Amino acid sequence: MRIKYTISIVFFLALVIIEKENNIISRVSNKLTLRQTPCTPLEPIASSRDLLKHNGSYAALSELDPSFTLEKRHQENHTQHQPVGSGGRKHILLLSTTRSGSSFMGEFFNQQSDNMFYLYEPLWHVEKMLTLASGGVNSTAANWAYPEVVRQLFLCDFSLLESFIEPAPVAHVTADLFRRSSSSSLCEESVCSPLVKGVFEHHSCKNRRCGPLNLTKASESCLQKEHRAIKLVRVRQLQTLRLLAEEPGLDIRFIQLVRDPRAVLASRMVAFADRYKNWKQWAVEGDVPIDDVEVSKLKGNCNNLRMSAELGLKQPMWLRRRYMLVRYEDIARFPLQKAVEMYNFAGIPFTSQVKAWILSNTQDSKETSGIYSTQKKSSEQVEKWRFNIPFKIVQVVQKVCGSTLKLFGYKFVSSEEMLTDKSQSLIEDKVFNVK
Ligand SMILES: *[C@@H]1O[C@H](CO)[C@@H](O)[C@H](O)[C@H]1NC(C)=O
Ligand SMILES: *[C@@H]1O[C@H](CO)[C@@H](O)[C@H](O)[C@H]1NC(C)=O
Ligand SMILES: *[C@@H]1O[C@H](CO)[C@@H](O)[C@H](O)[C@H]1NC(C)=O
Ligand SMILES: *[C@@H]1O[C@H](CO)[C@@H](O)[C@H](O)[C@H]1NC(C)=O
Repeated sequence: MRIKYTISIVFFLALVIIEKENNIISRVSNKLTLRQTPCTPLEPIASSRDLLKHNGSYAALSELDPSFTLEKRHQENHTQHQPVGSGGRKHILLLSTTRSGSSFMGEFFNQQSDNMFYLYEPLWHVEKMLTLASGGVNSTAANWAYPEVVRQLFLCDFSLLESFIEPAPVAHVTADLFRRSSSSSLCEESVCSPLVKGVFEHHSCKNRRCGPLNLTKASESCLQKEHRAIKLVRVRQLQTLRLLAEEPGLDIRFIQLVRDPRAVLASRMVAFADRYKNWKQWAVEGDVPIDDVEVSKLKGNCNNLRMSAELGLKQPMWLRRRYMLVRYEDIARFPLQKAVEMYNFAGIPFTSQVKAWILSNTQDSKETSGIYSTQKKSSEQVEKWRFNIPFKIVQVVQKVCGSTLKLFGYKFVSSEEMLTDKSQSLIEDKVFNVK
């Protein structure tokens, strides 16, 4: 009797260990849920391949790239093959929104250029092409195109991205890649072509003089790198990236960066003065029409952030161990600590190269003046927005983004005095534990 009992326990333990190591059950159940829920956001693919807008009309993707039939690839790869693994290679997706400090966070990965291939905002081109005449982005098209472009880029394939670059690259060479200069991977010696007379690049490399970008070279360099990271500010919902987590051959880590929506609005009103002129006017007049379309846009943005974070923190099977939430305010105040945490999460050794960059580019460098003053200084920097935005506007943000503020641990202010009271930080200490 006792032997039987022991055997069952040993058997059970063995199962637990095997599952821990290999996630067999999770993978199987992932597959099952995938089949059982045909209404994932990936479903519209078949009916919406006529995506690309060229000179005002939509062209079928398969027309632009005849080898491209997404459904076919999916059938082949998802039903026939087991996950092939990534051979230890990590694929890091930095997700954020504009004016949230994502360029700063991106540098944590961009600086590790000897084993990291880093891309800065490749979806800029995709968004541009999918922007509707009426303003705004065609979200049906974007929900499909964004993850698919990213998937290919993680595999060092630039071909789909190329079809979104305008003017179209010639023989895979372009002088128009958005913010090439922000990616050290695209400005390396091996990716640097000779200068071409008369060809001007808006975002040419700063560290060396290079000609137009040869994407074939970029792809070759990408394939050599151990890890890959891409920064995005255009993805609205984490859910739409599920395809990436389930892609065999990708070992993906999502790092979502958020920032106090009140600070983001204050910053956007300055940075994008044209698009935010209504807000600026309201700031002067002291009155905000709460039913205005701008206000509902703000609400929509906040809801997207919150829903993505809620999903990530809830850790559905496909996101298990793949999601991390980071607040800009924490990165700005404790950059080194946060960078180490991100590398740990990604499963990549932290290097002195990154550490050196952080020390020379942040308040952490002024450690001689004592840890307390360092922290205090950066907190003040991080909360400077409180003096640049009227209380009336803050109230509106708190009203439409309340649950988002609460989730991320940003304190509400109840008066003009509290808003500008330096002695009270609006950043609560918060650790985001995934369940
Ligand atoms: C958005 O894209 C889808 C898929 O390509 C297309 O069917 C639809 O007509 C587009 N919507 C608009 C408003 O252009
Ligand atoms: C779009 O129009 C430009 C000039 O107006 C032309 O050179 C280009 O070939 C057109 N592109 C497509 C895909 O039709
Ligand atoms: C299926 O996946 C393999 C390995 O990831 C890839 O080489 C192959 O091209 C994929 N099949 C199709 C039809 O794209
Ligand atoms: C781009 O780079 C590839 C690989 O190095 C090379 O074969 C090709 O000739 C280059 N293209 C141009 C237009 O220089």
